[in-house]
This record gives sequence, C-alpha cells and structure tokens, in this order.
Amino acid sequence: MLVDVIAGARPNFMKIAPILKAIAARRAAGSTLRARLVHTGQHYDERMSGDFFTQLGIPTPDHNLEVGSGTQAEQTGAIMLRYEQLLQSARSDVCLVVGDVTSTMACAITAQKLHIPVAHVEAGIRSGDWTMPEEINRLVTDAITNWFFTTSEFANDTLRRNGVAEERIHFVGNTMIDTLLANRARFQPPAFWAEHGLTPGGYFVMTLHRPANVDDPAGFARLLRAVGEGVRGMPVLFPVHPRTAKTLANLPDRPASIITVDPQPYLEFNYLVSNARGVITDSGGITEETTVMGIPCMTLRDSTERPETVTQGTNELLGTDPAALGPALDRLFAGQWKTGTVPALWDGHTGERIAEILDRLLAKG
Ligand code: UD1
Repeated sequence: MLVDVIAGARPNFMKIAPILKAIAARRAAGSTLRARLVHTGQHYDERMSGDFFTQLGIPTPDHNLEVGSGTQAEQTGAIMLRYEQLLQSARSDVCLVVGDVTSTMACAITAQKLHIPVAHVEAGIRSGDWTMPEEINRLVTDAITNWFFTTSEFANDTLRRNGVAEERIHFVGNTMIDTLLANRARFQPPAFWAEHGLTPGGYFVMTLHRPANVDDPAGFARLLRAVGEGVRGMPVLFPVHPRTAKTLANLPDRPASIITVDPQPYLEFNYLVSNARGVITDSGGITEETTVMGIPCMTLRDSTERPETVTQGTNELLGTDPAALGPALDRLFAGQWKTGTVPALWDGHTGERIAEILDRLLAKG
C-alpha cells in the first residue's frame, strides 16, 4: 500500500520525519505499508529545506516537483500540474499531507480529484482569519479530507461542528513534538553562540515572517523599536526568514540589541529556543515547541489556530500592535509569566499512532 507523504515548506519537514520513520518500522515488521516521499520544492534553499533533511535523517525525496517561488496561485497551480503528472504515471493508494502550507492544499486537491483518499495530519485547526493563506489552505484541505489526524480537542470539536463523522477523526497528538522530543538531546549551539557571548536565560529569540508584521516597512520598524526598548539591553537573536529579509534590507537602522542571523538549522534553532529567556514570534509551530519546553512565548498575532498553547501552554497572544510588547516584557522580567502544561498526547509517539491507523484503514480497503 503506497502512501504519498507530501512535504513542501520548512514547517512540514519536522512533521513528516516521525511519520516516515514509523511507516518504515511497520514495513520492516511485515506490513505492506510503504511511503513515497514527494517534495514539492516550495522551499528549496539549503537553509529552508536541505539542512532539515540532513539533521532529521529524512530520506532523499523519491520525487522533487521543484516548483520554487511564486505567487499563491502560481505555486498552487505548478504543484497541482506536476503532482497530477506524477499520479497519472504512478498512482499511490493514499495522499498524506501535513500542516497548512500551499503544498498541503494543492496536493490534497490533486489527489482527491483522481479519487485517491487524502489523510490530513494537523487537521481541524482554525484561526478564523481568512487573510492568512494558511487558513484558506486549512479550510480547503479539510473540506476534501477522508481521514483527519488531529493534535487537539479544539481541532476535534471544530471538525465535529463541521459535520465530520466521529470515525473519520483520529486524535493522535502532535508529530512536530515527536521530532522535538526525539532530538532534544542533540540540540547544539550555533557557531555564533560564543561570538555573541550568549548564556542560558540571557537573551531572547525572535522570528517574524507574517505579511501583517513584516511587509510594511514603517510598521516593521516600529515593531523592532518596541522590541529594542522592551528587552532591557538583552540580545535578541533574530534568524531572518527570506521574506522578512526583503523588508529588512530597506530599513535604515535597527535597535542595537537585535542581532540578525540566517535561518537556523533545526538543532541550532531549538538549542537557542530551549535556553532563551523568552521567544517573540508570529509563527504557529514555535508556540507548540515553547509550550513543551516551558519557554515564555509572546505571539504577535491577533488570532491563533493553536489555542491550547495559550490556555494550557506558555504562549500569550499580544496582537500586532507593538505597544503591547513593553508591558508583556515587564511581566516577564518581573517573573510573572505563566508556566503551563503539555497538551494531551504530545508525547513523542504520534507518528507511530498515525502509521498504525493508516495500516488498519488501508487493510480494510
Ligand atoms: C510558507 C508557508 C508558511 C510557513 C512558512 C515557513 C504558505 C502559504 N506559507 O510561507 O505557512 O510558516 O513557509 O517558512 O505555504 N524563499 C527563499 N528560499 C526558499 C523558500 C522561499 O528564498 O527556500 C523566498 C521566496 O522566494 C519568497 C519568500 O521566501 O519570496 C516566501 O516564501 P513562500 O514559500 O512563498 O512563503 P513563506 O512566507 O515562506
């Protein structure tokens, strides 16, 4: 039974690694389950893609669709055309997509139109914000998914409210956290750790790439100033996403505490996060990782599709007005940040649960 495992952009790679491992383990134990890894090429740099394959032991993709950069529609169209060609020449039995990137939606549509069932890992989460391309990707993908693998009760409830039958919802936990727990002992300091004299608890980590925060130069400059004013001279390590780099290149100056570095490989990035005083971000996945590592996290967004990181975890939504940063950082420095707990089933065994369920579902035919 051939399972296409689709990966396209950076946040996909840590989600597929444990699923591929678990499928390989079942196969070694006699199952007919077999994975075919399809990289769409949405992210293609060593820094955004290659490093993650190397560090996480992900095999070389069986197929690389090499779609590269483009507008939302260009990327969606290119992925659909090329994935359709692949399926027409060599069909699979199921298409497994993860997360909410453009590759997720494009491959789900293509497979379903060829009557190949779709399994969606991280199904059912919603921010309610239709201005985010990821939210459209979630809505479309879940509208045509056969088997929903979920990370939270919030996701289960959303799917039930949308009329998805209980037997199609599989609450399995979080594969991104499988990868985090499996690699925690391997986290390693980046080369600049000593150069910048970093010490555990003595710096912040910041990541920003959402259009709402980084596309407008004046707004972005205001945000950076607010960070600089709030961190009391502590260094802020800022690995810069390619999209953010474009706006940053045209900003005249930035606060001295902000240290920009290239996008970091997985083991270095999470070493930085696990030792940080706090994290300032507009990512979704990072709020899950900080929740598990117990690191204070400030999210510069108005909504989240991962509310458990706020209700149970260490994350707080500050909105996109930089004025909220100062008071939040004051609370952090005063030792008043919440500690949080780890959500159910974020236990390192989600990939195995997914492979076991796929095996069972595909055996039924
Ligand atoms: C995508 C995902 C987002 C995810 C993010 C993580 C969608 C809709 N968005 O957004 O959910 O959080 O990835 O990084 O799928 N670029 C490079 N090198 C690369 C890849 C991209 O330089 O390897 C450049 C592109 O040319 C483009 C910019 O980065 O200008 C943005 O890339 P793109 O894949 O379009 O979207 P992201 O903003 O990265």
